[in-house]
Amino acid sequence: MRPSGWPTHARIAILLVLAALVFGLPWPARAEAVERTIHIEARDFAFRPSRIAVNPGDRVTIELASGDFVHGLHVEGYDVNLTADPGQPASVTFIADRPGTFRIRCSVPCGALHPFMGARLQVGVPVGFWRALLLGLLAIVAGGLTFGRKADLGGGGGA
Ligand code: CUA
Repeated sequence: MRPSGWPTHARIAILLVLAALVFGLPWPARAEAVERTIHIEARDFAFRPSRIAVNPGDRVTIELASGDFVHGLHVEGYDVNLTADPGQPASVTFIADRPGTFRIRCSVPCGALHPFMGARLQVGVPVGFWRALLLGLLAIVAGGLTFGRKADLGGGGGA
């Protein structure tokens, strides 16, 4: 059986379906929700770690500790606000019920570089990841179909 035996309309249909999957669907990441505690240190106008990744539905506790001045932590898009004095850590717990990438900002004027003090919260697998993966797949399939078609024409079939 030759892999190139697909009719043209079937090839086009496959490509259209794949394209729809790549660009049309939100691709929610299904992972088991767990309880997480994330310790973040605020110091030198930076949060460490600067990138937090959780799964949708996770019950997330953020513990904020300051290593120098008073710093705040606000997650944009979530009702999460924390202020930590040096030597006095603070914590907040929330459910990561909205997938996406959210900016974390320092919410307390803490010095010259305060406006640049930020981090990121990633809830679920980034949509860009799936897009890239599927675009790669699409390219491979499209390439395979094109080659298959050439083989068909070369074989001197009817149609
Ligand atoms: Cu740290 Cu503002």
